[in-house]
Amino acid sequence: MTDSPAPLVAVIVVAAGSGTRLAAGQPKAFVPLQGQPMLAHALRGVTGMREPAQIILVVPADRVVEARQIAAGVNIRAEADPSVSAPVSALDLEVVVGGSSRQESVQRGLARLHPSVEIVLVHDAARALTPSALADAVVDAVRATGHGVIPGLAVSDTIKRVAETAADASQLGTVLGTVDRSELAAVQTPQGFPRHVLIAAVAAASPEMTDDAAIVAAAGHPVRVIAGHPLAFKITTRADLDRAEHLLAAARTPRSSPVFDATPRIGTGLDVHAFDDASPLWLAGLHWPGEQGLSGHSDGDAAVHAICDALLSAAGLGDIGTIFGTDDPRLVDAHGDVFLRETLALVHAAGFRVGNVSVQIIGNRPKLSPRRAEAQSLLSGILDAPVNVSATTTDALGFTGRGEGVAALASAVLVPRDVALPAGSGPGRANDLNLGL
Ligand code: CTP
Ligand code: MG
Repeated sequence: MTDSPAPLVAVIVVAAGSGTRLAAGQPKAFVPLQGQPMLAHALRGVTGMREPAQIILVVPADRVVEARQIAAGVNIRAEADPSVSAPVSALDLEVVVGGSSRQESVQRGLARLHPSVEIVLVHDAARALTPSALADAVVDAVRATGHGVIPGLAVSDTIKRVAETAADASQLGTVLGTVDRSELAAVQTPQGFPRHVLIAAVAAASPEMTDDAAIVAAAGHPVRVIAGHPLAFKITTRADLDRAEHLLAAARTPRSSPVFDATPRIGTGLDVHAFDDASPLWLAGLHWPGEQGLSGHSDGDAAVHAICDALLSAAGLGDIGTIFGTDDPRLVDAHGDVFLRETLALVHAAGFRVGNVSVQIIGNRPKLSPRRAEAQSLLSGILDAPVNVSATTTDALGFTGRGEGVAALASAVLVPRDVALPAGSGPGRANDLNLGL
């Protein structure tokens, strides 16, 4: 036990789920991610918080000992006797056995709160790459507003209400209508609440609500949404785990050399979309009224997609298909800004900033020059770096010359960020991935 002041914040890390959808043969939080259990990554994010917090770790009954060992590996001292009540520091942690539902697991964690705690964060261990800064932002917002606060990301896809009447189980059913996505947010954890609000709401809650904010809102308390973070995504399926592996592997690369490598990285990207009479045209991040549109899973913006590919390839993160997946329902009808912002966050997380980007659009239409400056300003603003947009035709040759579609070719230069740490100098902070080096 340390002499640190009693904590005002507690983080309940729920890790007692079985991981049915991941199907890795063991509880999800204990599945390795870049050689360490997912739980170790999640705990590293929590211990990176600015303010010392009581950490309550909720795990399956047969994993208590292992959870303590994992915590010790992250430099958190687990309580040998959880019934001891005494001041705790950020290096202290309690391990408790979870229940059969997430809600029950949260409830068991709440029972262990230190008396001094005023703000409670509930966090999914499955969101293993969540940056410490997101938890800090939630704490700050709970303190400033006195209300529940949850991180959320704007929903980029078009959402449909669907009747569940399909005879064929592989189909979802019939579309009933479109939901206004401007009112929607995809919410993440950690979710934060004033202690008394969460405890009272949980005590009054109906058995199965899917998140803590729903419980608090059902009890009549306001809940605010703050900006979430792309790295706070939940690892649910094998594809999510692969994505997390990929991100961590790329983030380790520039830091693993004995001497910090400041060499800029170059990447290229090419994208092609066919014209499609039924779609509006979106190109270089702009809407082009009256022009023939481009087909595609998203809005068909070949210029933005080529830029994303160039950025991802320069960062060693693969390509747009690997990261976003053409079958990702979140990206149906998504516009360029969504792809660029998410790509930029990944590039930052991998330890780079954008030096400059150049993209050339190849096609007969639209005529770019009247809106070149507008496109450059939009794209430069999003990427916080100079973006040059140029255009050419192909002398009536090939598919672009025949007016069948548009191609775009992009190059990007990334510069290692000076916040990237040499090997061995400790975990990252803020929006970095916590690598535990
Ligand atoms: N969780 C928990 N106790 C439960 C169920 C879930 O602590 N009885 C935790 C999980 O460990 C996870 C978080 O709640 O960190 C979010 O749940 P989810 O992603 O659904 O994880 P699992 O329930 O493990 O996965 P699945 O639903 O695929 O079985
Ligand atoms: Mg579950």
